[in-house]
Amino acid sequence: MNVRTMNDQKLKNRRVLIRLDLNAPVKDGRVQNDARLRAALPTIRQALEAGAAVLLLSHLGRPREGFYDPQYSLAPVAERLSCLLGRHIRLERRWLDGVDLRPGGIAMAENVRFNAGEKANDPELGRRMARLCDVFVMDAFGSAHRAHASTSAVARYAPVACAGPLLLRELRALGLALRAPARPVTAIVGGSKVSTKLSMLHALLGRVDRLILGGGIANTFLAASGQPVGASLFEPELLEEARDILREARLAGVDIPLPEDAVCARAISDDAPAVERRAGEIAEGEMILDIGEKTCRRYAEILRDSATIFWNGPVGVFECERFGQGTRAVSLAVAESPAYSVAGGGDTLAAIDKFGVAGGISYISTGGGAFLELLEGKRLPALVALEERAL
Ligand code: 3PG
Repeated sequence: MNVRTMNDQKLKNRRVLIRLDLNAPVKDGRVQNDARLRAALPTIRQALEAGAAVLLLSHLGRPREGFYDPQYSLAPVAERLSCLLGRHIRLERRWLDGVDLRPGGIAMAENVRFNAGEKANDPELGRRMARLCDVFVMDAFGSAHRAHASTSAVARYAPVACAGPLLLRELRALGLALRAPARPVTAIVGGSKVSTKLSMLHALLGRVDRLILGGGIANTFLAASGQPVGASLFEPELLEEARDILREARLAGVDIPLPEDAVCARAISDDAPAVERRAGEIAEGEMILDIGEKTCRRYAEILRDSATIFWNGPVGVFECERFGQGTRAVSLAVAESPAYSVAGGGDTLAAIDKFGVAGGISYISTGGGAFLELLEGKRLPALVALEERAL
């Protein structure tokens, strides 16, 4: 990776534009999980202490482009970040034509996705952002898989474009784990849909020794191997694809241990009566909402006996108490395993928080989609843009 870095730049009296990923869950005007905000603090502090005039950029959610929508305003994020930083961060609603900032000052630009052309990586929008700075710092690892105006085009036109400390730390930690992982390597891939993780599942077969599947993804694989899944969430149109992956895994010597038992109910609620069923005995109308005890024990054994673990996604509907035991058991097993463990993705971070296992995970990434794309071995467009500027 050949990129300029923020650490090597003179920032004193410079206008520094920092693209962060402050895309955090917001409810009733409050940030629900500030992990990404906390992760951004060292970079912000470093730039301020160096005497830069700092303008922060981020997206929040997926608003309709070209319109201001208060639902997606960064106001709650600016408020929370101000608390964490210990000083007020002004939110600029109109910022593309310039922001009044002195050295040592800080402001946050309103959601970059309110600007038409952001997602299309519009060069003119990138140029306008670039005019706001002397140094552009890309530090949004969570958005590095997006070729958008604020992650890519701006880097092309800024006087200097460099990588921030968080982006570098993420790339180094994940790169190291991916390049020469200690074996056996186990990946846990949970979540609702095979379709969103199909290319990753294929790519993982070349990298791992065991692949634990969870959630709706596991249901599709159970159905593909001829097991009844009742009214569970699964993707009937992907059964053939799932069979191909199972075949490919067998040929590659990768073990995919499908759930042997499951916690089932007829509704997703903490009041719904839940029963534990053996795989193969799921009744019509029942939904698989968690893995059963036997499967928990088996997965825990596999994780205990792994040297490297990549974890993305829960294995059940862990938001409900009665369907959260599987994800809890997996979280604890990852944390207690002697393996080098890397976790990423929104739901995974929420599970780590909920079950209080952060201390046992070797590296927790701030990336969701970006983490997955790195696991797949893809090049991240924002990084490509920085590499082009370093030539
Ligand atoms: C994420 O939450 O994964 C990142 O912030 C990227 O968000 P996006 O999927 O809306 O681009």
